Order: sequence, then C-alpha cells, then structure tokens
Amino acid sequence: MKIAVIGMGYVGLVTGACLADMGHSVTGVEKDEGKVELLSRGEPTIYEVGLPELLERNLDRSLTFTTDLQEAVRGAEIVFITVGTPQSEDGSADMTYVTRAAEEIAPAVTGYKVIVNKSTMPVGSTRLVERIIRERAGGEEFDVVSNPEFLREGTAVRDFMHPDRIVIGTDSQRAAGVMTELYRPLNAPLLITDPASAEMIKYASNAFLATKVSFINAIANICEAVNADVKEVALGMGYDRRIGFEFLRSGPGFGGSCFPKDCRALIEIARRSGYNFYLLEGVMQVNREQMELMVRKAEGMLGDLKGRRIAAWGLAFKAGTDDIRESPAVEIVRMLMERGAEVVAYDPRAMGNARRALPLLECADNPLEAARGADLLMILTDWEEFKFADFRAVGEAMREKKILDTRNCLEPISVRRLGFDYQGVGR
Ligand SMILES: NC(=O)c1ccc[n+]([C@@H]2O[C@H](COP(=O)([O-])OP(=O)(O)OC[C@H]3O[C@@H](n4cnc5c(N)ncnc54)[C@H](O)[C@@H]3O)[C@@H](O)[C@H]2O)c1
Repeated sequence: MKIAVIGMGYVGLVTGACLADMGHSVTGVEKDEGKVELLSRGEPTIYEVGLPELLERNLDRSLTFTTDLQEAVRGAEIVFITVGTPQSEDGSADMTYVTRAAEEIAPAVTGYKVIVNKSTMPVGSTRLVERIIRERAGGEEFDVVSNPEFLREGTAVRDFMHPDRIVIGTDSQRAAGVMTELYRPLNAPLLITDPASAEMIKYASNAFLATKVSFINAIANICEAVNADVKEVALGMGYDRRIGFEFLRSGPGFGGSCFPKDCRALIEIARRSGYNFYLLEGVMQVNREQMELMVRKAEGMLGDLKGRRIAAWGLAFKAGTDDIRESPAVEIVRMLMERGAEVVAYDPRAMGNARRALPLLECADNPLEAARGADLLMILTDWEEFKFADFRAVGEAMREKKILDTRNCLEPISVRRLGFDYQGVGR
C-alpha cells in the first residue's frame, strides 16, 4: 500500500520504518527540514534499538522522507497523523498540531483515502479531524479512523511489530477493511470498535498503568516504614494472574512523554464530562511526591545539600531511550541543584537532550568520572551498564561511599559488603 506518515517523531518514525519493512511504500513527512535531511541520509533522529537497521534496509527503496505534506498525501492510500499532542495549560491535550495537519491534508485528498489518527487524542478527535477535512476537501471520499499507538520507547520497533492488540475505531466498514488488510501480517488481536471507545482505550490503558506505578510506590513507602521489602511484596503480588508482574517496580515515579500528559488529559476529559476523577488525581499526586521524596532521602543521607557533590547516573525517563520529556531523573536533578547541590551527571544516551533542558548541568564522560569526588551516588535511570558497574572502583573514586538507588536496580547486600551506605526505595 502507499502510505504517508505525518510527523517524524518517536511514533511516526518507528511507524513509517516498520510499515516500510513490511513491504509498504512509505513517505515520512516532517516539517523540520533538519530532521528530513538527517533521515534522508539514513541517520536516525532519535535513539531507538533496531531503528538504524530498518532505515538502512528500506531507505530510498520503500521509505523516503520529505517536507512536502501535500505531495505525500496525494500519492497515498493511507495517511497516518503522528504529530505531537502535548499538554495545554489546563492539562488537556493541545490539538494545534493535529488540526493544522488536518487542514494541510484536506486539499490533497483526491480519491478515497483513510486518514488515521495515531497520535493520542481526546475523545471526539476522529470526528474533529473528519469535520476539518470535509469542510475543505470538497466532495472527495475519505474516512478518518482512530488507531492509537501503544509502543514503548526503548522497545518501540519490537512493540510495533508484535503488538498485544491493535485497536481500530471507525464506523466505516470500508476503512475497517483497509486497516485490517494493512495489519494482517502482524497477526495480532484486532479490536474494531467505535471511534470514541478507541480513543478512550488509549487513555484508560495509560492511566491504568500509571495507577499501578503510583500504587506500588505508595506500598513501597509503607514497606519502608514497617521494615518490609517492596521487591518481595511486588513479587508475591505478581504471581496472582489477576495482578501480574508488570508495572509493579517501585522507583522515583513515572515520567516520559505519555503517562503524565495522558493522565492529566484524562482528568480534564472527565472534568468536562462532569465526572471528578479523584482516583487519577491521587495517582498524579503520589507521583509528584515520590520525586520529592527522593530528594528528601538524599537529604536524609547527606544533611544539607548545599555544596555537596552528587553523582547522578541516568537522565532519560527510562532505560533504552534518549527521551527526557517529564523525566523523573531530570526533575530530581533540578530539585537537587535548586537546593545547592553540585550535580555531575552521566547518561549513555540522553546527555545531549538533558544539557538543552538544564544548561548549567555538569556532565561526565562515563559513570566513574561522574562519581569521582562525590558525596552521594544517585541511580536515577535503570540502564543495564549501571547494574554491572565496578562498584569497588566507584567506591574508591567517591569522597563518601553512599548510594541512593531510586530504581532498586542493585543488590543491597553486595554493595553494602563493599562498605557502601546503601538505600533503595521501599526496601
Ligand atoms: N512517544 C511515545 O512513546 C508514544 C507512544 C504512544 C503514543 N504516543 C503519542 O503519539 C504522538 C506523537 O508522539 P511523539 O513522541 O512521536 O511526538 P514527537 O514530538 O516526538 O514528534 C512529533 C513530530 O511531528 C512533527 N510535526 C508536527 N506537525 C507537523 C506537520 N504539520 N507536518 C509534519 N510534521 C509535523 C514535529 O516536528 C515532530 O518531529 C503523541 O500524541 C503521543 O502522545 C507517543
């Protein structure tokens, strides 16, 4: 099939590259010329495992990039909208990029096309995009469907190719047929439903996962007070198939470009429909307090943070990505700096993005250099390389042998045996 994907961010680029690899002819549209230049040379604009290989395999064969949205749309049977839907001031999803994209798409709708809302958009957005295009596309035939994306940064390519389910929201049998055909090779459970339900599925899924994280963080804080180990508690809970093991890892709170903004947007969707979503407001409050708690723990280990040197291992919002949007690590580093701590950070992939967000942040070339002379080492992102660091050397490089492991990724016994004062979360 001929496909246009509008917006070459984390979702659009992965979607485009994967569809090209499945044998479709894909044009990736991006308004940022710099990104188009890099991508056209086969250079990924984001860090994502497997993406460089997909680009190399498909570039100029089944995958091309352009800034010319209308030409790409004119030649396409399916048009994916994968632009950002960031948070507005009131917490709702900002639909500016989506409405602009729809306005630009409209004049290029010549002959039947399926327009796919893949970005995370509030309930009613399928109808909104349909209205915008209909007003501008004359009598041309088209359908708009909701097809939310569930991929996770860090495992995005695998998630796209092996999804747990594919959700299609449409009232059109014709569009449902086209989408079914498109995704048939993925062999995944396909749920065809109405547009509003499809839109709600995405928000409800993210809000539920965020709830699990805040729940286990709350349990962790109680565990600490009663001398229980939250890792054991989560394990014991996870064996219950009704609960499951996933998303029961306590830590510094959830972040990233999706959970926080999608929870806030759902709270706002609920409010506008006359329902107070107290439960999800609580989830967000627990999350905010969890980040502050990590800073208070650092104060507990060091006293006043003014002038104290803290090594921060990890800045990405989770391992496997260079994305720092709403990263708890960056938020915690910011709070430490505000309290006068001298933070030296290291992250294998996210330092470039973090430097742009925190221009005063000092960064080191490797984890050991970050730890040199530090009074405290804080592990803020659970990159594999941190788990297997040479802690004997780290201890020798530090001024004080103290570790605050906000991701619970180390074995307390083994680092304590090396003489570290070690604290995790809920252990
Ligand atoms: N990042 C994730 O893990 C993830 C997962 C599932 C769903 N989502 C959702 O997918 C959507 C996209 O997220 P993202 O992280 O990929 O965003 P992003 O900010 O990384 O990328 C959006 C891209 O779209 C481009 N763009 C905006 N308007 C354009 C236009 N008119 N024409 C061409 N390009 C345009 C921007 O320049 C940018 O490169 C959001 O709604 C998000 O909530 C994200």
